[in-house]
Amino acid sequence: MKKSILLMACCLGLFVEGALAQIAPKEEFVSALMERMTLEEKIGQLAQCSYRGNFTGPGGANYSKEDYVREGKIGSMLNVVGVKEIRRFQELALQSRLGIPLIFGLDVIHGYHTGFPIPLAEAASFDLGMIEEAAVCNARESAADGLNWVFAPMADISWDARWGRVMEGAGEDPYYGALVAAARIRGLQGESLADTATVMACLKHFAGYGAPIAGKEYNSVDMSLGQFANFYMPPYKAAVQAGVATVMSAFNDFNNIPCTANDFLLNRLLREQWGFQGFVVSDYNSVEELVNHRYAADKKDAAAKALQAGLDVEMVSTCYLTYLKELIEEGRVKEDVLDKAVRRILEKKYELGLFEDPFRYCNPGRAARVLNAPDIRDASLRMAERSIVLLENKAGVLPLSSKIKSVALIGGLNRSPHDMAGAWAPTTDRSKIITPYDALTRRGLTVNYAEGYNLKTNALDGLEAAMEAARKSDVVIVAIGERASQSGEKAAKVDINLPAGQQQLIAELKKTGKPVIALLMCGRPLIFNDVRRQADAILCTWWLGSEAGNAICNVLWGDYNPSGKLPMTFPAHVGQVPIYYQYKSTGRPATLRQAYVSSYIDSPNEPAYPFGYGLSYTTFEYSGLKVEQGRKAGEHAVVSVDVRNAGKVAGEEVVQLYVQDKVASITRPVKELKGFRKLYLKPGESQTVTFSLTDECLGFYDNNMHYVVEPGDFILMAGKSSRQEDLLQTVFTLE
Ligand code: NOJ
Repeated sequence: MKKSILLMACCLGLFVEGALAQIAPKEEFVSALMERMTLEEKIGQLAQCSYRGNFTGPGGANYSKEDYVREGKIGSMLNVVGVKEIRRFQELALQSRLGIPLIFGLDVIHGYHTGFPIPLAEAASFDLGMIEEAAVCNARESAADGLNWVFAPMADISWDARWGRVMEGAGEDPYYGALVAAARIRGLQGESLADTATVMACLKHFAGYGAPIAGKEYNSVDMSLGQFANFYMPPYKAAVQAGVATVMSAFNDFNNIPCTANDFLLNRLLREQWGFQGFVVSDYNSVEELVNHRYAADKKDAAAKALQAGLDVEMVSTCYLTYLKELIEEGRVKEDVLDKAVRRILEKKYELGLFEDPFRYCNPGRAARVLNAPDIRDASLRMAERSIVLLENKAGVLPLSSKIKSVALIGGLNRSPHDMAGAWAPTTDRSKIITPYDALTRRGLTVNYAEGYNLKTNALDGLEAAMEAARKSDVVIVAIGERASQSGEKAAKVDINLPAGQQQLIAELKKTGKPVIALLMCGRPLIFNDVRRQADAILCTWWLGSEAGNAICNVLWGDYNPSGKLPMTFPAHVGQVPIYYQYKSTGRPATLRQAYVSSYIDSPNEPAYPFGYGLSYTTFEYSGLKVEQGRKAGEHAVVSVDVRNAGKVAGEEVVQLYVQDKVASITRPVKELKGFRKLYLKPGESQTVTFSLTDECLGFYDNNMHYVVEPGDFILMAGKSSRQEDLLQTVFTLE
């Protein structure tokens, strides 16, 4: 290793002896390196190939990755897993003429070896510190196993549960989504990319990928700039402000231009306006797919359009590799545009410390120590507990009493480590996943297990065995929902109702007279109205990762009092989708209570469960919402509300602050989340929660994407969910 670094160092004339300590400052180093690079070598830095398999789509030329790396034709790789393989490719890269090291990226979406809850579940915790800690763990494991780049976080806001990828985001709210994206980036990247326990994050998918028409995967996105700026853009912008190292362009088009070749998004907004300094990578094969969009005539045209629009790295397809040289020689693309892209990539390699030591992430000893380390398992458990949302708890059936000795555990999902891992968890170690079945058994309970329904077809299957298990047990715990693989990329659905067989199963089990607890396992909001009526309690457990079973048991028995709140509205009917709490009043709001209003004739407007909803084993009382008046733009006012734990057990509450701009120069939502606090209160304990009301809470983007703060009245609302009945309110006047 040292030999090639020294060789490169000498070639560059930058240092004499001891390359490690004497590497030149970044700009100087990269400039000197670029001076030595041929056109082909520069283009090579822009090429990213996938090593194994064809994971997420078509495309990918059939060439020897080894040869291309050795020839300096590849700048980064994805899907190379493990220190050994990563080292092998890095060694090949060092054999190229200039020995420029590779970057290795992977989809580490919710845990690397240790599985963490799916991102939507983590978002339900409303615990930014815990979310950041989870990202730190994901980075530690990934980096220990050789990676220096992960394709996360997904910061796409979505209002549409039909879109399967909602599992990978933070839900529907732009304010909260921005905070979550920033927390994840802080966790992944730490203080410095040079720290070998951190990795580069990748903000994705820029932009608007969460709003495909009709929830259909990869579909077109069509929205006004005002809508984009207020509801979809905030998490992307926050990610850039948090210093995200890389950005991935989205598959979809935006304002009629595919994001992968969208000059407005990549050059103007991201770089010129927000000052983004890192590099932009395409999504899988999406440069070539400009041809399918019919935005490019052929692959050569696609290469020209993408590079000029500011797309630096081409993932999987080979338009740059094949055509950029020609395009530059013909003068159709300026070499200066290429140089800028190359510089951005080399700068990141420098910041990662790869020029000092290309193998700094390849330490098998460290990998063995860090993967599945006890403190990471512990963080996964704490994250999982905090991600669970208690949706129903009739007659306080939960927490279960310690007197319960036997449990009927129904549903194959309860014993499926593969499903517990959740969608898009290719590296999670399935052998170390604790399922609910494992956890209950370890608690020393008698577990009467039956499947009840067929996991593949969802038809009732073995009902009698399930009934028998229920009859001989103290309580019935049934796993319902969808399989992990039914959410995530390419898993859009038109029907998000719980399968009829599962609803029927709950109805049958109820006939035994035993308390029936439903564990809703899902990667997206589902509709389950019959179960809502019938089950005694419902816990939304999403997909929780390696410690799923322990977390679920801890919540069932009250060792952890559930504190999660829904980060996405759960519809009552699929026809309500897209559904979200920050809707507009319209000219005929449903609150007018007459026929000609914005509503349905066959369904209420109300969702099954609103954004911000989630129960606890205790209750919290809100009172005394106050705000200081007399504030002008640019100043801040203090809002306060008193919260009291009125129940018998300690618990955590997510205190939420919403704001409505009463009259504005554009139409504004009925309410928007502008603050929240997660509190721990002992029984009888009260706390006054304060929020700072700043311009960021009161302003909005106008239709030209300028942020404005307009004087006037604002309704402030504080409480336990976005539902009007759950909120106290007062008026604030901005002078
Ligand atoms: C496609 C997905 O959209 C993206 O999120 C992912 O990072 C890439 N494939 C690479 O696997």
